[in-house]
Amino acid sequence: MIKKNEEYEVKILDYGMNGEGVAKIDNFTVFIPNAMKDEKVKIVIVKVLASYGFGKVLEIIEKSPYRVEADCETYKRCGGCDMRHIDYEETLNIKQNMVQTLFNKTFGENKVKVEKVIGMGNPYNYRNKAQYPVGINKEGEPVIGIFAERTHEIIPMKECLIQNPLSEKIAFAIYKFMKENNVSAYDEETLEGLVRHIVIKVGVRTHEIMCILVINGTKIPKEQELIEMLVKAYNVKTIIKNVNKENTNVILGKENIVIHGDGFIYDILGDYTFKISPKSFYQVNPVQAEVLYNTALEMAELSKDDILFDLYCGIGTIGIFASSFVKKVYGIEIVEQAIDDAKENAKINNIENIEFYAGDVEKVFSNLMEKKQIYPDAIIVDPPRKGLDENTISNVLAVEPKKFIYISCNPATMVRDLKLLEEKYEITNVVPVDMFPYTSHTESIAVLELK
Ligand SMILES: C[S@@+](CC[C@H](N)C(=O)[O-])C[C@H]1O[C@@H](n2cnc3c(N)ncnc32)[C@H](O)[C@@H]1O
Repeated sequence: MIKKNEEYEVKILDYGMNGEGVAKIDNFTVFIPNAMKDEKVKIVIVKVLASYGFGKVLEIIEKSPYRVEADCETYKRCGGCDMRHIDYEETLNIKQNMVQTLFNKTFGENKVKVEKVIGMGNPYNYRNKAQYPVGINKEGEPVIGIFAERTHEIIPMKECLIQNPLSEKIAFAIYKFMKENNVSAYDEETLEGLVRHIVIKVGVRTHEIMCILVINGTKIPKEQELIEMLVKAYNVKTIIKNVNKENTNVILGKENIVIHGDGFIYDILGDYTFKISPKSFYQVNPVQAEVLYNTALEMAELSKDDILFDLYCGIGTIGIFASSFVKKVYGIEIVEQAIDDAKENAKINNIENIEFYAGDVEKVFSNLMEKKQIYPDAIIVDPPRKGLDENTISNVLAVEPKKFIYISCNPATMVRDLKLLEEKYEITNVVPVDMFPYTSHTESIAVLELK
């Protein structure tokens, strides 16, 4: 049995779900961040649990040909990227294998073939949404940056290579304003202080900017001067105070107070314009979102007679992209503000064959069928990480749409759900799309046809 602080030389056999290296010591599994497949590394054991442990690389004895010098100063401590030490093309192979391995384990060896991951042409500065924690450092001074991996320690902000550079500039300007004007930062220990998070959303194609200040209170000292600074220097379109007085890790509180502009921004995806509110989900990588939606719709081969359900529809993006290929789209989404945006989005894009319903898919999907007698010929789902609930899966199996398209940011729950749908469906195509370059997150599209 291995013990903490022991040192070993190991060969890395594979990658784990977070892009970390996996080795075996006397058949005991050890996960080693920053180690690559086929490398020989010297490690120290840092944690031992009942059935697996964690190691830290002390020395790379034999290097992978795909190892590259990480190009980010805070990479080793930051909880954002976990694949910057790997050549980008190779990260795509790793993601493809990761999804393939999950299918193999659940469906049998090579029963389902996972295609190559569609990578991003320029995998830099792709994020349109930044959430910077603001807090107090060990010296008692305000700090803004990013959370260190698995902790709430804030690493001061340095150039982030996946973030929109404008977001960083604006967040830093707010931080500078706070320091110059004695606006306090929230202290997670004492629960005192004002500013907790700065959230910036950028419409990449419209250049519109939303700035959300998450505060433990309702008033910001010298608020008018702050607004003037942000509008003058950065042309910020809307500024919102979000009140969060709870002792919680959830970033946004319930109450939004718009202090400049109209409380939303627009962005353009494909041929469509989308309205985005503070609480609505919007894909964080808009360049790849277009690729994701277009690929999913090409794979789906929808027809002009189809009634399509867009489940977990957010602000209606997928349904609106699909609307010209089908007879009618029904979108369901739990966040009411997102549904308000979705309805507005249908209007501004002149889409008439789409309807949206606010509520839990688990219930609204049944209601549409039972109370309104509306039945889908095809369904696209894009659920959160936890995947589909049992009720939704039974509904799909009962109503038997001829096509079922599963878009997922968590291949593990996707594969779990697809196994249940296998009873009536054949998986005809699985294509991952790299929505989150240099992180171990993997988005996939799976197309199912009724047997
Ligand atoms: C991954 S996002 C996809 C949004 C949209 N399809 C897009 O591409 O922008 C998942 C969405 O599901 C919504 N959601 C989460 N749980 C839900 C539920 N039980 N019922 C309906 N919508 C839910 C979230 O609010 C979020 O908008």
